[in-house]
Amino acid sequence: MNQGDLQTRFPHRHLLGIEGLTPDVLSLILDRSESYVEQNRRADKNKSTLYGRTIVNLFFEASTRTRTSFELAGKRLGSDVINMSIDTSSVKKGETLIDTAMTLNAMHPDVLVVRHGASGAVQLLSEKVNCAVINAGDGRHEHPTQALLDALTIRRRKGRISGLLVAICGDISHSRVARSNIHLLNTMGARVRLIAPRTLIPSGIENLGVEVFNDMNEGLKDCDIVMMLRLQTERMQGGFFPSIREYFHFFGLDYEKLANAREDALIMHPGPMNRGVEIASEVADDIGRSAIREQVEMGVAVRMACLELLMDNLPGDETS
Ligand code: NCD
Repeated sequence: MNQGDLQTRFPHRHLLGIEGLTPDVLSLILDRSESYVEQNRRADKNKSTLYGRTIVNLFFEASTRTRTSFELAGKRLGSDVINMSIDTSSVKKGETLIDTAMTLNAMHPDVLVVRHGASGAVQLLSEKVNCAVINAGDGRHEHPTQALLDALTIRRRKGRISGLLVAICGDISHSRVARSNIHLLNTMGARVRLIAPRTLIPSGIENLGVEVFNDMNEGLKDCDIVMMLRLQTERMQGGFFPSIREYFHFFGLDYEKLANAREDALIMHPGPMNRGVEIASEVADDIGRSAIREQVEMGVAVRMACLELLMDNLPGDETS
């Protein structure tokens, strides 16, 4: 394709991460997502473009938003969606990730949506199956559809991504959301700041082209977007911070700290939120400034676009 040509196809078999995707490809996904936002607000939300296709949600970790929105997205496009419940699956009998994937693969799904606690597990699985694979979060590595729905929310609210100053605050070390957002925002021309205690910043992260701050008041200065992250205690072994109370005092987003950001700064959070830990309730619920519910809404549109773009690349009827 010539440079400058409008990208019309997603040029990969799987969606495993944001790293390596070009601005054109990211824009392609965001533009396609945009077309579903209005449709999702209508009474009749359904299309049949993916009729006959099968999506399997395979979640080895807890999820509310991501799993539900992939299910809704698939159903709104007319495909069948199966939710594998790990608790009642053969994983509980000791079956490995790869054996579980191969078993599902033998039933000819078109897309596997996979969340797993180990970084790299989804990539490994994608190498063993014939269908398309979407990474719905692998350990602390990537969560591409979260970064895309964040980008769609930002683009709709601010009219652009390029040139914005974005602060990502909190548990950066354990966050796949932070990593995917850093790649996406940098690729789309935003400036990224990370704000966290030293213990929650991975060493060498500056190499990804971000500025690091250990003080909220300093780091939030003049920011257009304030993205808060949950303390991911399930991935922590040992003490990363003295107490919840102290963490909130220094790193929890309240109106006092927010006053350093731009007056029209947008507040975001991927959820699930821990109120009173990384964010004060009144800030999270601020109708004028918080985009947290809109992020959830955009999640369905983005996942519809991703499913459709990946299915466009799948072969048609195998027997014909
Ligand atoms: C995030 C995740 O699972 O990575 N949640 C989400 O998908 N919206 C963030 C988190 O768990 O804190």
